Amino acid sequence: MCGIVGYLGEKNTKKILLDGLKELEYRGYDSAGIAVLENGNFSYYKAVGKLVNLEDKTKDYETKGFAAGIGHTRWATHGKPTELNAHPHLGESSYVVHNGIIENYANLKKELIADGVTFLSQTDTEVIVHQFEKNLKSCATAFEAFGKTISELDGAYAVLLVTKSEADTIFFAKHGSPMLVGTNKEGEKYFASSDTPLIGHCQDVNYFEDGDFGYVTANDIAIFNNDGVKKEAVFSALSQNKLSAQKDGYRFFMEKEIYEQSDVISDTLMGRLSDEKIIFDELDKSLFDGINEIKLCACGTSYHAAMSASYLFERYSKIRTSLEIASEFRYRSPIMSKDTLFVVISQSGETADTLETLKMAKKAGLKTLVICNVDNSSMVRLADACILTRAGIEKGVASTKAFATQVTVFWMLSLFVAKLRNSLDTNEIARQISLLREIPTHVKVTDEMHERIKRLSKRYLHGHGFFFIGRDVFFPLALEGALKLKEISYLHAEGYPSGEMKHGPIALADPELFTIALLPEHLHYEKSKSNVEELSARDSTICVISAIEFDKADDFVQISTCQDYMLEFFEMMIVVQLLSLEISIRLGNDVDMPRNLAKSVTVE
Ligand code: M6R
Repeated sequence: MCGIVGYLGEKNTKKILLDGLKELEYRGYDSAGIAVLENGNFSYYKAVGKLVNLEDKTKDYETKGFAAGIGHTRWATHGKPTELNAHPHLGESSYVVHNGIIENYANLKKELIADGVTFLSQTDTEVIVHQFEKNLKSCATAFEAFGKTISELDGAYAVLLVTKSEADTIFFAKHGSPMLVGTNKEGEKYFASSDTPLIGHCQDVNYFEDGDFGYVTANDIAIFNNDGVKKEAVFSALSQNKLSAQKDGYRFFMEKEIYEQSDVISDTLMGRLSDEKIIFDELDKSLFDGINEIKLCACGTSYHAAMSASYLFERYSKIRTSLEIASEFRYRSPIMSKDTLFVVISQSGETADTLETLKMAKKAGLKTLVICNVDNSSMVRLADACILTRAGIEKGVASTKAFATQVTVFWMLSLFVAKLRNSLDTNEIARQISLLREIPTHVKVTDEMHERIKRLSKRYLHGHGFFFIGRDVFFPLALEGALKLKEISYLHAEGYPSGEMKHGPIALADPELFTIALLPEHLHYEKSKSNVEELSARDSTICVISAIEFDKADDFVQISTCQDYMLEFFEMMIVVQLLSLEISIRLGNDVDMPRNLAKSVTVE
């Protein structure tokens, strides 16, 4: 996702900003830019693509003395990855960089346009700088204008702003997106959206809290809370280890990514929910004209997300939905009819098998849609339409947050299509939207839950295999749980529909067969429970994941009571991810780089 850096001091500002952005490259981005205010004049540079392009553009530019500089790497959300949409964004005499999403940008933009302001970009960010300059006309100081502007923004943000009216100052605000400031003996001030750019420059840093805003000058760091009350900076020692800084103290990227799910799902939802409908600005409604079937095609974890979607599309959108494993589809002379919307799902957008099926669908004249995490990837460029999942870069080979955001997008899309087809009444859509808003809370990892699973994991390091079982959408979740476990623990695991066990696999049941049973309270509880009892009667070792206590299980992981089965889905997803993680760590495996696997499978 986007990255922010800022610097105020006398050293080589250009180099400090570019080096800082380089440290944030791992987060993923599609364009970058810097703006430097030196001797009352701005210099700014932006480039699409990798940082080398920005370095190239700035190669003849030098900063010599005291300056205030801001920089940004952008991961497109509103508007394509173009130079005009890249940050910093310019007003008449100010520049801004921003991470997050300004939810009320459309209203602010409308008012500013009515006031005669011209917008250059399609971004939500640009409203910040224009709103600030509008306020500057009526406020006594730039700080007052900045504070007023921040109070007018809804959504999530980390913002840095520099303005000619106070050329020795950087203004900042943080709400919902991370940002920190550091200083050193020379009195320089460094900003960034995560630790790494500050390593080597500062020993101590202050992590801003939500609602903090203020400014820095050569002599001061002035922080104010939500209510405008001044507060002291709270400095803590900055770890000087870059890799561990990127992992934010987690043992593995996979662990960090499991913990990030609450935040990235908030990003996925942001700007896409109103009280009574789902908003996908990126979709032209004509995409669904004449469509009688949705065909979902993907590999691995993305296939499991697609399988969950197949239940949701038929249940909520009342549209025939079929599901394809990409590597199978491409070689089986499939029948493709033009009333089918062909949907590919891919974290990377580069998986060779999935990409090939997209090409086949295009060639057959089908309308195509990609659900993807990487803008500008091959699939995004090829498909007719695209919905980005906004999970941020995923480093762990075992996919976690990408899956969570894919399922979130599919749940939204099933309601979007339901509205188009009138297949759910307005009250039910509104109810489901309020459930969607709950997901980020349900995927927050609690210390208690993590500790419980850590302790439990020591009992599951051997045996002759695992069965993850579930019904309905909990079947793809069972498949995903089993895939996670085998990828990183190298133990044999299978996902199975609970009701199918008695048709064969139950023959394997004995104390050394571990069954991980997904028992949602709100979907086929009694039926799934009977299936678990059948296994229990045959002495399989059983771990039940449910909100309702279950006395026939050897182990029990209790999720919280939820209002709906889909929220139970997300709670159980966390449990199966953590269980795989902890088993694999106990086995001494490199969770982030499991043997034989690549993050993106770009070959057949
Ligand atoms: O990038 P994609 O979503 O297209 O990747 C598909 C699979 O290769 C991927 O999901 C794989 O199964 C992961 N290692 C799962 O953790």
